[in-house]
Amino acid sequence: MKTLKTQVAIIGAGPAGLLLGQLLAKQGISNLILERVSGDYVLGRIRAGILEQGLANLVREAGVAERMDAEGEVHEGVEFAVDGVRKHIDLKGLTGGDVVICYGQTELTKDLMDARQAAGLLTCYEAANVQLHDIAESTPSVTFDYEGEKHSLCCDYIAGCDGFHGTSRQSIPADKRTEYERVYPFGWLGLLSDTPPASEELIYCKSERGFALASRRSATRSRYYLQVPLTDNVEEWSDDDVWAELKRRLPQDVAENMVTGPSLEKSIAPLRSFVCEPMQYGRLFLVGDAAHIVPPTGAKGLNLAASDVHTLYKVLTRVYQENDTACIARYSEVALKRVWHGERFSWWLSNMLHDYGDEGGSGVDAKMLDRFMDSERDYFLNTEAGRRVLATQYVGLPYEEV
Ligand code: APR
Ligand code: PHB
Repeated sequence: MKTLKTQVAIIGAGPAGLLLGQLLAKQGISNLILERVSGDYVLGRIRAGILEQGLANLVREAGVAERMDAEGEVHEGVEFAVDGVRKHIDLKGLTGGDVVICYGQTELTKDLMDARQAAGLLTCYEAANVQLHDIAESTPSVTFDYEGEKHSLCCDYIAGCDGFHGTSRQSIPADKRTEYERVYPFGWLGLLSDTPPASEELIYCKSERGFALASRRSATRSRYYLQVPLTDNVEEWSDDDVWAELKRRLPQDVAENMVTGPSLEKSIAPLRSFVCEPMQYGRLFLVGDAAHIVPPTGAKGLNLAASDVHTLYKVLTRVYQENDTACIARYSEVALKRVWHGERFSWWLSNMLHDYGDEGGSGVDAKMLDRFMDSERDYFLNTEAGRRVLATQYVGLPYEEV
């Protein structure tokens, strides 16, 4: 058994783990990341690409913003289309200057990986059998198999950044956590292609045939999504099928403008709302998808992970630089407040834009729910007050101080 030592053990090298590691290292706090899969595998995952200003600022604070600031697109507005009628939401005007940045999560992850490597910070990729020990004691540790040898990592704190299927959350005794979950009755089929996007701004579309989203990565790369039944397999959808269905769901002028081409990636993801409370136990802190999942409507997943990272980074900086251990107990409460706002927003936006078929919900039948959602769409897209609420939450609520 090889023994290692660090101040903060980070489980998972997704964007949450990598960003936290970079910020802590900048403050002189040592950390080591354990990742189950290879770096190439991590970079092969295609995820959303809308960064709130809070996240963009955190990336700048971490010193990893060069490419994001050079290549990321500033989006001052976003569009919604209801049955073909387009509505522009002036994010910048309605929020007093806030915007979002369109920059793929995969690109951000690559930048963080490169920066970590350049700084000589250790990430153990393909670390198997990661197990957390003594998390309620003052000397926790993590054991794992790496390069054919068993390792034990002694640390002060553990950051569980290992996503929804990770091991960290499961290490909290079941009677010490409460989990909230909603699984939606449909999925999103995503298609990435090297074709010029159909629109300068993102367009979230509610149509009679279900939801569609026209998104982008750059002037030459597009990302589209379709609401599909959970029973669909991606193999059943040829590229031509996807393009044809997009044409039916997007507003007519957008559909006419859309350039089609072969897909670079195509996959179906289920939609889920999930929260684990509290987000800490002993010396373990849960961060990002390990503690909460949102449906992708509104692109809050990565941004909520970032606000957790901000909170934990501030807590640990105070612990190590000011010897303030009292603030540790506040992590979960501060993080969860913003998480629930993001959860509610993503759930609400999903409700407004998808077709729920005969399901209904919230104690009303499907027909009545349809009428309620007509009224929601009318208010939040067609009144100034409604648009301001939508814009304020879309660009992201401010980070809470610890
Ligand atoms: N041991 C080590 N690493 C693990 C383990 C484990 N047992 N289980 C999972 N991991 C790794 C995964 O391989 C993955 O690389 O943890 C990482 C978690 O990364 P993400 O799933 O990307 O989660 P996170 O970093 O919280 O990123 C925020 O929010 O909505 C999403 O799209 C958004 O992926 C983004 C996420
Ligand atoms: C994306 O571009 O992948 C994307 C954008 C906005 C969303 C979800 C996904 O709400």
